[in-house]
Amino acid sequence: MGKINAVITGVGGYVPDYVLTNEELSRMVDTTDEWIMTRVGIKERHILKDKSLGASFLGTKAVEELVKKTKVNPLDVEAVICATSTSDYVFPATAALIANNAGLKNAFAFDVQAACTGFLVALTNATAFIESGRYKKIVVVACEKMSYITDYTDRSTCPLFGDGSGAVLVEATTENIGIIDSVLQSNGAGEPHLKMRAGGSACPASHETVDKKWHTVYQEGQAVFKHAVTDMSDVSVAIMERNQLTADDLAWFIPHQANLRIIDAVAHRMNVGKEKIKINIEKYGNTSAVSIPLCLWEMDNERILHKGDKIVISAFGAGFTWGAMYIIWGYDSK
Ligand SMILES: CC(C)(COP(=O)(O)OP(=O)(O)OC[C@H]1O[C@@H](n2cnc3c(N)ncnc32)[C@H](O)[C@@H]1OP(=O)(O)O)[C@@H](O)C(=O)NCCC(=O)NCCS
Repeated sequence: MGKINAVITGVGGYVPDYVLTNEELSRMVDTTDEWIMTRVGIKERHILKDKSLGASFLGTKAVEELVKKTKVNPLDVEAVICATSTSDYVFPATAALIANNAGLKNAFAFDVQAACTGFLVALTNATAFIESGRYKKIVVVACEKMSYITDYTDRSTCPLFGDGSGAVLVEATTENIGIIDSVLQSNGAGEPHLKMRAGGSACPASHETVDKKWHTVYQEGQAVFKHAVTDMSDVSVAIMERNQLTADDLAWFIPHQANLRIIDAVAHRMNVGKEKIKINIEKYGNTSAVSIPLCLWEMDNERILHKGDKIVISAFGAGFTWGAMYIIWGYDSK
């Protein structure tokens, strides 16, 4: 038998209805549409307003749509891997809640925490499970309720983030398509620059941590920006070189959507033209682990993904974590 590859066979997604515009934000903090568009490239983001709903609500929506689109029997799905930094609870895993809600009753389920690189890490895990021959159908879902960890009095972070979810079905194939290669890296020295300062075992929740707003995203923007540009560029170029890919070979480059200027700088290093870069940061903001599957979801819905398309995706996030993946797309969107 030929080598078993892992291939994406469907994409689901979801964004909540409420749209928070730059105009509304500029009434909340001292900012402007012009500053946010020029410095970051975001016009609006979707927000889950209902305080009683966690990230699993968003993830369940994406998985339900995925099941409907692919017509997979939910009972045939063997594993659910969820990438999130905004899990419903510290435990149990959000993946378990989603699997139960969406009727994937036979799947074992676990979460992956790699911040904005989470989808890439989860998909690499799913790929390894499938290539090993032990699993045939795995759902990888990313869901983020970033609004609950955003301080809407801090103008340096509150324009950045949005809520949403995306999910893919990963199946076994012996065709030479699917997830061909990935490079994943991390460096814990990035911790001081991008973190949620309290709520974990190193700094448990207390009145003091709540008063100090330590349960929201803390980011030293410029330091993170520099690392994001360098590390995402290096890893994207590395995956192209070791797979003998030139920019001409690529149908699409799909980057994590954190800042339009970061995307431009990385694409420039890769020598990829604007027409091949998927960008939707303007509509959704930075949805952390969700941003790449949300791109795939839109592209699938627009029917612009074709079997054989060569795609590079890359991401950077807290940790620091970063990585890139080379995919040969497995089906014509319909
Ligand atoms: C966060 C980020 C958009 C900030 O942009 P920046 O160009 O670095 O801006 P700075 O933080 O240097 O701030 C520049 C000035 O704008 C001001 N400013 C910050 N936010 C502002 C806002 N929303 N509106 C208006 N002014 C703002 C600052 O106070 C500062 O003013 P000063 O010069 O008077 O001190 C950018 O650093 C970034 O994208 N970082 C990386 C994000 C990322 O990739 N994260 C990893 C994945 S989650």
